[in-house]
Amino acid sequence: MKKLVGIISTIVMVASLQSCYYDKADLLYPNSAACDTTATASYSTKVVPLLNAQCYSCHRGGSGGITMGTYATDKAIAVNGKLYGSINHSSGYVAMPQGAPKMSSCNIALVKKWVDAGSPNN
Ligand code: HEC
Repeated sequence: MKKLVGIISTIVMVASLQSCYYDKADLLYPNSAACDTTATASYSTKVVPLLNAQCYSCHRGGSGGITMGTYATDKAIAVNGKLYGSINHSSGYVAMPQGAPKMSSCNIALVKKWVDAGSPNN
């Protein structure tokens, strides 16, 4: 019985350590250090820095027929669903950023919040 309690508490400890680590994932990666989904999802101060770091290098030049880098172009792919579909790796969309790890879930949520707000130029 004692042994069983020991095994269970070990499992609980390991599980809580892992969830702790996972919770901190956004803090560990510099790109998402400023990620905060409680604040207003501002295009200029939140969305552009993200897209600039992870997307514009290819899409300013129109890679894959998708041009990004101005409010008008970024709004166009927000409105047609491709921005969120690609970064969320939704089925039916090509997963982005190409050749790089998926954005953190906090940053994906941040972009979604901006899209859901009607992708304002704020
Ligand atoms: C290394 C270059 C590169 C980077 C970085 C990159 N893309 Fe792409 N992207 C491409 C290419 C190439 C295609 C065309 C892929 C295809 O059709 O198979 C594409 C396609 C797309 C599409 C069209 C997807 C579809 O299903 O129609 C969208 C939207 C897109 N990218 C958004 C983004 C976003 C948002 C980011 C940043 C998170 C990003 N891309 C980062 C190269 C890149």
